[in-house]
Amino acid sequence: MANLFSSSIGRKLLMSITGLFLIVFLLVHLTLNSFLLLDGVLGFEEGQMFNAGAHFMATNPFIKIMEPMLAIGFLVHIMYSIGLTIQNIKARGAARYASGSKTDDVEWSSKNMFVLGIFVVSFLVVHLANFWVKMKITGDPLLHQEASFPFMGAEAHGENAYALVNTAFQNIAIVIIYVIGCIALSFHLSHGFWSAFQTIGWNNTVWLNRLQTISKVVAWFIGLGFCVIAIAQYLFF
Ligand code: HEM
Repeated sequence: MANLFSSSIGRKLLMSITGLFLIVFLLVHLTLNSFLLLDGVLGFEEGQMFNAGAHFMATNPFIKIMEPMLAIGFLVHIMYSIGLTIQNIKARGAARYASGSKTDDVEWSSKNMFVLGIFVVSFLVVHLANFWVKMKITGDPLLHQEASFPFMGAEAHGENAYALVNTAFQNIAIVIIYVIGCIALSFHLSHGFWSAFQTIGWNNTVWLNRLQTISKVVAWFIGLGFCVIAIAQYLFF
């Protein structure tokens, strides 16, 4: 067990598992955020679907358990990425990881995972300060705007998370930060996703090629999905 935390391959395994966990989170997060655009299409009033989703997230016991796990997942992923990068720098560009599986892959994103990660974390700090801190810690007058929405077959009243998000995206500077952060996220995931599968042992050549393609599709679906939401909120809502 100690080896898992201290050996180079053990650390990479932890990064892979936490990375895949974070990708699952991002897919759920993107699904919930897509509600920001879907009210009109599905016949709801503006903001109702997102407010219902935010209410569900805030009140569901399973989500409450997952929140600290998510924070731990991020912290482990970030801490071990710093450790591995320092180790790689010390190894001066020799075989990157102890798996010995240095490939000829010269993908730009694979060589810049750490820098891309810094962009994503910087974005995350701005993002959490904008939304999470206001929703969970400090509060914000926008959250107190009247909000009613359908919930579990009845009409519910709760925080107006939509007003907070929608107001933030009226600021072009914030939209630009989201676009840059989410493009960095796409590049980061386009290497990270298949690399994680390779680390956990899925390295059969046929599947590795397929996973590289799936990885790019998933990565850009997630990153561009978030970008489209931010831009559409600015332009149309
Ligand atoms: C259009 C883009 C996005 C929107 C509108 C959005 C919206 C939100 C909102 C409203 C919250 C607060 C939820 C709550 O406290 O209940 C939140 C939390 C969070 N977001 Fe995003 N988000 C976006 C993109 C992203 C991206 C790209 C990432 C990751 C790189 C991300 C990571 C997180 C994390 C880690 C949390 C904290 C989750 C928690 O513990 O509740 N978000 N987001």
